[in-house]
Amino acid sequence: MTKKTPPSIIALDGPAASGKSTLGRTLADSLGYLFFDTGILYRAVTWIALEHDMNLRDEAAITELAQKAQIDIHPPSKADGRACDVVIGDRDVTWDMRDGEVDANVSVVSAYAGVRQALSEQQRRIGLRGRVVMVGRDIGTVVLPEADLKVYLDASAEERAKRRFDEIIARGGTADYEEILRKVIERDHIDSTRAVAPLRPADDAVIIDSDKMNAEQVVARVMELCK
Ligand code: CDP
Repeated sequence: MTKKTPPSIIALDGPAASGKSTLGRTLADSLGYLFFDTGILYRAVTWIALEHDMNLRDEAAITELAQKAQIDIHPPSKADGRACDVVIGDRDVTWDMRDGEVDANVSVVSAYAGVRQALSEQQRRIGLRGRVVMVGRDIGTVVLPEADLKVYLDASAEERAKRRFDEIIARGGTADYEEILRKVIERDHIDSTRAVAPLRPADDAVIIDSDKMNAEQVVARVMELCK
C-alpha cells in the first residue's frame, strides 16, 4: 500500500487573532515544514514607518519603504513565546511590532497595492519551494493559489478579542478588552473591504469556525485534513 504524502504547500488565512499563528506553528512543527507568518512583513514595514514619523497616507513613500526595507528573521533567541526574532537594523522588534500603534495602522499600510506587490512576491518565491505552512490574509487567494491545502480559520470577533486579551496578559502586559474588540473589528473591516487582495476564503478553502474549539481541537482537525 502506498503511503499518502501530506500537502506540501499549506495556506492558512483568516481574520485578526483567529489563532492562525498558533495553528500554523504547531502544524509546521509536526510536519517538519517552514512556518512563515506573512503578517510579520506588513507589521515590520508599519513599524519602520511609525519609527521614522513617516506620513502613513503617503502611499508612494510607504511603497518605496516596502520595496527597500531590510527585515531580518532569525531563529528565536528567547523562549518568550516568539516563533522567531524579527530584527530591523540592529534592533529586535519582535514584540514592538505587535504593539497597539502598529495594530492600529497596519491595515492602512497593507491596503496599498505597491506594498502588497513588493511583499507578496517575496512570499510567493519562498512558498513555491514547498514544505511550508504560510499564514496570512490572502495566501490561498493571491499569494499561493496553487496551495495543496487551504484553510480559512474563523471565529467571532468577541472570541478573537478574548484570545488576544489573554495573550497580552500572559506576556505580562496590560490590556482593555473593549478596546481590543473595537480594534479587531476595525482591522477586519479594512482588511476585508480593501480593493487589492481582500481578506476572504478561497473558493476551495476548508472553513473552520473555531469559536467552540480549543487550540488542540483545531490542530487535530487540520492534521486530519493533511492525511
Ligand atoms: O496576528 P494578527 O491576526 O493580529 O495579524 P497579522 O497576521 O500579524 O497581520 C497584521 C495585518 O497585516 C493584518 O491586519 C493585515 O492588514 C495585514 N496582512 C495582510 O494584509 N496580508 C497578509 N498576508 C498578512 C497580513
